[in-house]
Amino acid sequence: MKEVQAIIISGGPSSVNDTAAPQYDPDIFKCGIPVLGICYGLQMLNKEFNGKVERTESREDGQFTIQVDTSCLLFKKLSAEQEVLLTHGDSITQVAEGFKAVAHSGACIAAIANEKAKLYGVQFHPEVDLTEHGQQILQNFLFDVAQCSGDYTMANREEACVRYIKEAVGDHKVLMLLSGGVDSTVCAALLHKALSPEQVIAVHIDNGFMRRDESEQVEASLNKIGLKVRVIQAAHNFYNSTTTMAADKKDPNSRKRMTGTLNRTVNPEEKRKIIGDTFMKVANEVVDELNLKPEDVYLGQGTLRPDLIESASALASGNADAIKTHHNDTDLVRELRKQGRVVEPLKDFHKDEVRAIGKDLGLPEELVHRHPFPGPGLSIRVICAEEPYMCKDFAENSSMLKIICTFANSSKTLHSVLNKIKTCASQEEQDQLMRITSASPLSSQLLPIKTVGVQGDCRTYSYVAALSSDEVPVWQDLVILAKIIPRICHSINRVVWVFGGAVQFPIEDITPTFLTTGVLATLRQADYNATRTLAQAGCMGNISQMPIVSIPIHFDRDPSLHLPSCQRSIVIRTFVTNDFMTGIPATPGKHLPVKVLDQMVENILQVPGISRVLYDLTAKPPGTTEWE
Ligand SMILES: *[C@@H]1O[C@H](CO)[C@@H](O)[C@H](O)[C@H]1NC(C)=O
Ligand SMILES: *[C@@H]1O[C@H](CO)[C@@H](O)[C@H](O)[C@H]1NC(C)=O
Ligand SMILES: *[C@@H]1O[C@H](CO)[C@@H](O)[C@H](O)[C@H]1NC(C)=O
Ligand SMILES: *[C@@H]1O[C@H](CO)[C@@H](O)[C@H](O)[C@H]1NC(C)=O
Ligand SMILES: *[C@@H]1O[C@H](CO)[C@@H](O)[C@H](O)[C@H]1NC(C)=O
Ligand SMILES: *[C@@H]1O[C@H](CO)[C@@H](O)[C@H](O)[C@H]1NC(C)=O
Repeated sequence: MKEVQAIIISGGPSSVNDTAAPQYDPDIFKCGIPVLGICYGLQMLNKEFNGKVERTESREDGQFTIQVDTSCLLFKKLSAEQEVLLTHGDSITQVAEGFKAVAHSGACIAAIANEKAKLYGVQFHPEVDLTEHGQQILQNFLFDVAQCSGDYTMANREEACVRYIKEAVGDHKVLMLLSGGVDSTVCAALLHKALSPEQVIAVHIDNGFMRRDESEQVEASLNKIGLKVRVIQAAHNFYNSTTTMAADKKDPNSRKRMTGTLNRTVNPEEKRKIIGDTFMKVANEVVDELNLKPEDVYLGQGTLRPDLIESASALASGNADAIKTHHNDTDLVRELRKQGRVVEPLKDFHKDEVRAIGKDLGLPEELVHRHPFPGPGLSIRVICAEEPYMCKDFAENSSMLKIICTFANSSKTLHSVLNKIKTCASQEEQDQLMRITSASPLSSQLLPIKTVGVQGDCRTYSYVAALSSDEVPVWQDLVILAKIIPRICHSINRVVWVFGGAVQFPIEDITPTFLTTGVLATLRQADYNATRTLAQAGCMGNISQMPIVSIPIHFDRDPSLHLPSCQRSIVIRTFVTNDFMTGIPATPGKHLPVKVLDQMVENILQVPGISRVLYDLTAKPPGTTEWE
């Protein structure tokens, strides 16, 4: 077997003439190994063989229909018209020597080939969902052109994992901290398969932020395949825990200060830090109790490939802020990592592959198809607050929101504000805004809470805009509005729909909220009711994640009656993604049947003490998957 059977050169933002364009050894094109160049890879290939690549007027961005030459091996089994994703500014204006154009997008060349030399290039991206038959094209290249055999199967990779674990761990022990999620459960099952029973120490620390029945299910499933799990009930350690933080956020070496106890802490960063540190403290106590010397033990982790990408960047772009601080990314884990004492058998896998391994190892379907759940669990799905978040700009942004949501009627009067809308929104967006806001009256409120988002590659904490109406929601239009609003009003990074009719009264206060058992119990039950509804409708696979979030907002209080704010509301945050870096909310009626959503709302409202149910309409960016 040859070491390298095929080369795929991916796209990138460079232009072929840039001095900073990636350098390469031209011999890779001459050593007989089949090459597929994608996007920039195609342009590089074309230039290498003396073709011409030029910046043309017609930039193509989005899904286009192209014509392909089906006699070319690359397009075998396809029809002549193909839907593909194009994103390019430069185009081929003269095909390289020995090559011919094998696909066109209008006047642009969309693919070239030198079939004798087994060199191919495509301008579009076969690797994304928006290229309908991209998988087939990649298969044609790998199996027909490069004669690969496709024996790199799941079973083989599972075997390779087992070998890796055996080699890495030797006769040491592995401490596996089970979070309750799919990844760490599958990881534990793999460790169990690879090692002897006394080598694997599986510990589940119940931090009090788990979903209903989750701890029990993980324990039972692993017991069933022969792995004994130690469950540590630590909820009380967590609620009353504290930690130290650098007094100056920007300088990690500054003096340390003590945080309050977790159940009196509202700041999301502090919450995460306390939970992460408490987790490691409890874990260390467990290690001590087991009489394990830290230097004899390895740490097993269920890190996946996308986790590694996401920790390094916000939207996988090199220099962006880290969006989430992984709760277990604490000093001890970092230290073990530095010493190479971490086993991460799943680090080359994606979620769907981990699910397949889990099933193969005998874990129940219901467990392996669970949506990802963050380490700090429900704690980051309770928006805590002592007072409303209302900066000086609240009133101004609030009235701006009203103007946007009544654009069709406002356009006759308010000229000065209109200019802002016109500079921030494209003509097409203005037309959509006009159409949507003239269809039916829309009530809008700025909510005095902040949630995390990403705007322009930075992390932001901003307001939530709430839309409501007495009419039946037109979901596609609401999703469009949710895109336009944050673009005009940068202080808003999230837009939600409020079920239950038009909201009458403005919201200017909040229900004081901390991480206390009552609040968590309400959220846990709401989460259970919603997730069960989704599962029973057979829709778990339609969406990638569905955080259920508690917000300290009590609607429907007539200000003249001076009623206290004492209830909370529940948000359904659906998220559809393949890469777990960017994504969109599920559009009801498209990704999720409206009937199922309505049922979910009804079932959530059965939990006592809930004011209203809301639906998050925000894509990422600008809103992150989780609310904090
Ligand atoms: C690259 O340089 C060549 C030769 O100067 C020029 O014809 C071509 O337009 C340039 N291409 C781009 C994309 O700038
Ligand atoms: C926080 O937790 C401690 C210990 O469990 C408890 O005594 C205290 O009442 C809690 N505080 C709140 C605000 O619930
Ligand atoms: C909670 O933690 C505080 C500070 O660490 C401590 O003084 C107090 O005794 C604890 N209370 C309980 C109920 O554990
Ligand atoms: C620790 O973090 C990794 C990577 O985010 C995650 O896969 C794993 O499940 C976490 N472990 C626990 C115990 O939460
Ligand atoms: C919202 O508030 C920000 C921050 O004060 C301000 O700069 C901005 O102009 C306001 N946005 C609108 C659309 O009024
Ligand atoms: C526009 O204004 C008119 C008159 O004030 C009102 O009757 C109508 O309902 C408004 N339309 C919308 C879509 O808000």
